Amino acid sequence: MKTILITGGTGFIGSHTTVELQKAGYNVVIADNLSNSNENVIDNIEKITNIRPCFIKVDLSKEDECKKVFDKYPNIEGVINFAASKAVGESCEKPIMYYKNNFGIILNVLEQMKQRDIKYFVQSSSCTVYGEPDKLPIKESSPIKEATSPYGHTKQVSEEILKFVTLSSNIKVIALRYFNPIGAHESALIGELPNGVPNNLIPYITQTAIGLRKQLTVFGDDYPTPDGTCIRDYIHVVDLAKAHVVAIDRLINNKNKKSLEFFNIGTGNGFSVLEVIKSFEKTSGVKLNYVIGPRRQGDIIQIYADTSLAEKELGWKAQENLDSMTLSAWKWQLALKK
Ligand code: UFG
Repeated sequence: MKTILITGGTGFIGSHTTVELQKAGYNVVIADNLSNSNENVIDNIEKITNIRPCFIKVDLSKEDECKKVFDKYPNIEGVINFAASKAVGESCEKPIMYYKNNFGIILNVLEQMKQRDIKYFVQSSSCTVYGEPDKLPIKESSPIKEATSPYGHTKQVSEEILKFVTLSSNIKVIALRYFNPIGAHESALIGELPNGVPNNLIPYITQTAIGLRKQLTVFGDDYPTPDGTCIRDYIHVVDLAKAHVVAIDRLINNKNKKSLEFFNIGTGNGFSVLEVIKSFEKTSGVKLNYVIGPRRQGDIIQIYADTSLAEKELGWKAQENLDSMTLSAWKWQLALKK
């Protein structure tokens, strides 16, 4: 059984990926500082898979703590790196904290890997690296535009770091550029746990529907899109988790064509904010209280993925649709209330 270290494994995407990796026969070690998650996620992963992942609470941005993880688990063969601060707005207020944390983590982990000759690394990247696209759907070869937030900048620079590290070592990397991950595991045992008032659309919708928030504001309906609201490529978090299993399999089985590969991980379909609301109202049966407000600064108008490279090379394609995403998010919100 191969052991994979998942940094940030108690978080939204990390927890779902742990489940899928365990189902695929991997042994999982989770390292997380619990800054934006809860230790009971470990219990809930175990409830789903009947396997308890190893867990170590550490701050990976600290060199000695990162080393501790690799000392304690000397059989780690690959790493999937989710651990990072991820709020766009907060990153604009605290850029230094974002750079220290996100770069500290990736650099410390890569250093340990290099020292111990651990070869396989999957990076959590983001479609945010593309900025406002010139052409849609967006391909991996599209130009990287100037970052609009320190968060986005850390994702761009992390890709650059990985480029130079792969050139100078045996480390092989796949960077997955996610579009908008939403939804939750069908068991409703794991899902997204936003800290405080959510910034993202889906948790804001489900919290409004359940009465935790008064009203959702749709940020602008005067964009040059069919209904005037912004368009995103929403992807079910379970589909996204499965992409990580395929990526680590590819590296371990030496199927990668280059030492650093990038893949878009989306559905290829763009949906507007109003279409997401409509889907949510249909699947939940709840009428949502929302108003149209002004545009949110920094929002791009529309983006959705060209997923043909992931289909061809990884043999991966998203299976879920928008309704199953909004329904699973709602079931998760209902389960949280219990
Ligand atoms: N939106 C609203 N009201 C809200 C929240 C969001 O109308 O209360 C709209 C936004 O304006 C946008 C869409 O819903 O049009 C999606 O917004 P999210 O905040 O859910 O997602 P973003 O596309 O802004 O950001 C996400 C991730 C980032 C990542 C980015 C990449 O949250 O981490 O995708 O494009 F960087």
